Amino acid sequence: MRRRSGARKRIGRRFVRWRPWVPGHDASRRARDTSRPPLPQGGVSSDADCAPRRPGYADEPPSQPAGLPVTSHKKTPETLRSHRWFGVSDLRSFGHRSRLRQLGYDSADWVGKPVIGIVNTWSDINPCHGHLRARAEDVKRGVLQAGGLPIELPAMSLAEPIVKPSAMLYRNFLAMETEELLRSHPIDGVVLMGGCDKTTPGLLMGAISMGLPAIYVPAGPMLRGHWRGETLGSGSDTWKYWDEKRAGRIGEAEWTEIEGGIARSYGTCMVMGTAATMMAIAEALGFTLPGASSIPAVDASHSRMAAASGRRIVDMVWEDQTPARILSSAAFDNAIKVHMAMGGSTNAIIHLVAMARRAGLTIDMARFDAISREIPVLANVRPSGQWLMEDFYYAGGLKALMGELREALDLSCVGVSGVPLGEALAGARVHRPDIIRTLADPVSRAGATAVLTGNLAPRGCVMKPPAADPRLLKHCGPVLAFEDFNEMAAAIDRDDLAVTPDHVLVLKNAGPKGGPGMPEWGMLPIPKKLVRAGVRDMVRVSDGRMSGTSYGACILHVCPESFVGGPLALVQTGDRLEIDADGRRIHLHVGEEELARRRAAWTPPPPRFERGWGAMYSAHVGQADEGCDFDFLTGTAPTAEPEIH
Ligand code: FES
Repeated sequence: MRRRSGARKRIGRRFVRWRPWVPGHDASRRARDTSRPPLPQGGVSSDADCAPRRPGYADEPPSQPAGLPVTSHKKTPETLRSHRWFGVSDLRSFGHRSRLRQLGYDSADWVGKPVIGIVNTWSDINPCHGHLRARAEDVKRGVLQAGGLPIELPAMSLAEPIVKPSAMLYRNFLAMETEELLRSHPIDGVVLMGGCDKTTPGLLMGAISMGLPAIYVPAGPMLRGHWRGETLGSGSDTWKYWDEKRAGRIGEAEWTEIEGGIARSYGTCMVMGTAATMMAIAEALGFTLPGASSIPAVDASHSRMAAASGRRIVDMVWEDQTPARILSSAAFDNAIKVHMAMGGSTNAIIHLVAMARRAGLTIDMARFDAISREIPVLANVRPSGQWLMEDFYYAGGLKALMGELREALDLSCVGVSGVPLGEALAGARVHRPDIIRTLADPVSRAGATAVLTGNLAPRGCVMKPPAADPRLLKHCGPVLAFEDFNEMAAAIDRDDLAVTPDHVLVLKNAGPKGGPGMPEWGMLPIPKKLVRAGVRDMVRVSDGRMSGTSYGACILHVCPESFVGGPLALVQTGDRLEIDADGRRIHLHVGEEELARRRAAWTPPPPRFERGWGAMYSAHVGQADEGCDFDFLTGTAPTAEPEIH
């Protein structure tokens, strides 16, 4: 039977026509009947509880009703969370209401209406989010259209190029801030606005832990860069032309021109860096409206998507469509598959592990590797491919890519749109098969991310084979080891550095505690004397991360890190180190006896912080395979609602 204009959906005792959101089409109701009768409860089957656990996952939450379409409303005006602040008749609620009136609101603004928090990571110094101040007004427009009360709440912005020593040091800060902003305010549902690298996982982790209905508005990529007829990609072309400058092939004038042409509009990095990867993952998990993550920041569609998200969150509150109803091992598998097909950033592994643990799921590192072997790279986007995110959007965007992956995805998962993924992907089409390739003709058959283990990394490390020189995917060479970044930086451009193209560069103390904050130092610079000789890739090994815009034979996230005494701490210049990407192996050719001797002589470095956030971070942050989350923030243990006295 042909669906004419949407399914019929039960709302209370009535059935209404129901359409999922699609770009350019608005299906939300403009007004809400707040006098409707109480709605039936318990409309969710528990069949999903019996679903077999997926390999690579542990701790499936016992009542995970994933994959079920939204069939009934759960909330009434009296059961809204904000009702405790505004709906009761006591001294405190008088104070809350009088203060809303102080803001110029009247009872018509709040009676019977969900309060929608808009957690906005706009700031004056974050160019990736420069448009989010205006875009929040689009979200508010949508919330008002659908009968909600929008309340904007600013949160830490985490501009990746600006925040030091590493924005990753503050991802958990943003997650805590998001969770506590929502807990302490009279919020019924939330629109999360971010995009620059750590903001996506930070916002989502906090929202998952808080458990209120949440929808994500991705900032979207900036426009393509340009310089003298060349198309420039964020980060990737910075590294490339920096090496050209170091080799003396371009001068200061050219370098300054590139500086002015590589970032031409608001929006996130427009290669397949961490930002584009995490926005796509948010969509694949089900946290955005279908197609939202690919829309360029400055495209008019972005404003329409923001308004539609505002409308949709109001419905999600009434439906009680919480993250717990969206997230499941199936949803995370979908996200990992999309990550691999996008040729996504290695950073995403850490964030996915952290988000899953917030939802009560533990993803084994082996799961990433298994999916990596199964799903080839389809997105022909730099640094693994040729094009940029703006081109990817014109080619059909993430919906089109997920359409190509349809056979590999669990199409029963239900995200914020309220319909199964299979339905949300209806009509998805690839307009440029050279940019979004097929499973039969991928960009690369090697998966986007390989997980290696061995005596150097007993708990794993990662690399991105499609972004490496193929001849280095199997390599054994002498080690040139640096104790920290400063030692490396002081030596790397020296003409007398004893290094050859076969050397393996090793950087220690770049991990979660050692960096601190696991900075993106993993793409160590090629020694200047080798750059001049035309060398553009070498094997580089560290416990740090690398930008998703980076490339090369970089082995990252070595776990446990050297700062806590992981085997990486014992590596010395002159050792031989072997990597085998296909065999998923990394091996330090040093005997057990010698390693034991070095371990006995090793002393832990002094703490990085004596006080403040850094001290709290150092005391509680986990290793890379644990998602670098805080030990007291993972899991699903409930936190009490605030008392109102
Ligand atoms: Fe913000 Fe790359 S610097 S997304």
